[in-house]
Amino acid sequence: MKISLKIWRQKNAASKGKMVDYSLNGVEPDMSFLEMLDVLNESLIEKGEEPVEFDHDCREGICGTCSLMINGRAHGPDRFITVCQLHMRSFNDGDTITIEPWRAKAFPVIKDLIVDRTAFDRIQQAGGYISVNTSGRPVDANAIPIEKENADASFNAATCIGCGACVAACKNASAMLFTSAKVSQFALLPQGQVEATERVQNMVRQMDLEGFGNCTNTGACEVECPKGISLENIARMNREYYSASLKG
Ligand code: SF4
Ligand code: FES
Repeated sequence: MKISLKIWRQKNAASKGKMVDYSLNGVEPDMSFLEMLDVLNESLIEKGEEPVEFDHDCREGICGTCSLMINGRAHGPDRFITVCQLHMRSFNDGDTITIEPWRAKAFPVIKDLIVDRTAFDRIQQAGGYISVNTSGRPVDANAIPIEKENADASFNAATCIGCGACVAACKNASAMLFTSAKVSQFALLPQGQVEATERVQNMVRQMDLEGFGNCTNTGACEVECPKGISLENIARMNREYYSASLKG
């Protein structure tokens, strides 16, 4: 396949970026999208040019780092997968593919296609944990009965990989889907009840401090989320927040 690429190049956070055109021959349909970028980078290095910087780690849909806007879609055209799980067979010979970083004030571009997503880490640190006594007498996890429905919903929320596609897809750059997944995974379990009030208040406060926008229920986040995190989590977080506000 012959592919034309339009890729966002930006030297550093302070410089102005621009789209740059590349042409790539010999792309195999069974190459992953990231392997295609590896091939491009090898050719750039051979020519003495700067390779395109992009984030990746596991290449298995687990770590959430391979976050790219491809032809205007977060993680590309296929649903429920990350960029590292996308293959070139999803495109046609002769296609032009546009590749950009996530666009959000709270995710500033570091270089080329890499953005700073530490805002998510700070939201998580604000309350996305439970305190467990591990000083000698830990309780066996299975000693606390949990309804299957709640266990399943909690597990589904916990599959959020923190990729940021929900923010990139949202016209308001809202982080409500991510934050609500992290709140929900504990709100549904007895272990999460002890710190429930402070958790939701602190995580929502941090989310707002980071400069993410508000949710206006457009649902683009749910459509673009590679893990199928449901909007129900946002509704649950809103209920948690309301009930925490009543407790003061
Ligand atoms: S909710 Fe989905 S899109 Fe948002 S960070 Fe989690 S996995 Fe990524
Ligand atoms: S590289 Fe880890 S999810 Fe894609």
